[in-house]
Amino acid sequence: MRIERDNIVIRSATVDDAIQLNKWWNDGRVMEHAGFPYGLGEPLEDTIENVKSKKGKLSQLCIIEIDGKPVGELNYNIEGDTAYPGWKICEFDYQNKGYGLKIIMMLFEFLFKDESINSKCQINKIVWDTMLENKRAQHVYENKIRARRTGFRENAWKDQTGKWRTAVDYEMTREEFYSRYKRS
Ligand SMILES: CC(C)(COP(=O)(O)OP(=O)(O)OC[C@H]1O[C@@H](n2cnc3c(N)ncnc32)[C@H](O)[C@@H]1OP(=O)(O)O)[C@@H](O)C(=O)NCCC(=O)NCCS
Repeated sequence: MRIERDNIVIRSATVDDAIQLNKWWNDGRVMEHAGFPYGLGEPLEDTIENVKSKKGKLSQLCIIEIDGKPVGELNYNIEGDTAYPGWKICEFDYQNKGYGLKIIMMLFEFLFKDESINSKCQINKIVWDTMLENKRAQHVYENKIRARRTGFRENAWKDQTGKWRTAVDYEMTREEFYSRYKRS
């Protein structure tokens, strides 16, 4: 997939992106928000296999580029009528500049509209979560995207340090997206 708006491009990752992805995933500062403060410790070969495994699938692993530079990654899985995305602006210089909102909106519009996805299974809702500690993400989802918080999953999983973490769940339906953003 490839979508583009202004200076932002979201495109499927290729094997050539594996080195960059592997660097981000193994960097504890980048992965802390996901509960991996020491990084994933993933061998490059596994990252290459991960990228390869998405080829030709509806579910994708993507690179986010701004001004032609890779600054982060996102992914989505599709199960039935639901898309489960995740996103990460990995380059700190590009965080807190309003890009998150734009990237998420681009992705949601794509997921609800893309012919090759929706002709196979119409996406009726998008579901994602964040960690309770990620107050910035919650602010973006609740006050900027105006997504619906559907609940908390207390102590849903143990992070890399052995600490129990609570997840906050969000959802946006096709109807909510179109009534809020009035795009047809
Ligand atoms: C979460 C993320 C997508 C948000 O994108 P972004 O481009 O950085 O966010 P924006 O610039 O659009 O908005 C940031 C908002 O959060 C606010 N904010 C920043 N730090 C905050 C904090 N600690 N607590 C609450 N709000 C905070 C900012 O003031 C801004 O709000 P405003 O525009 O109303 O002033 C991005 O920061 C990111 O990828 N972070 C690292 C990985 C991550 O957390 N991914 C999400 C996992 S669910």
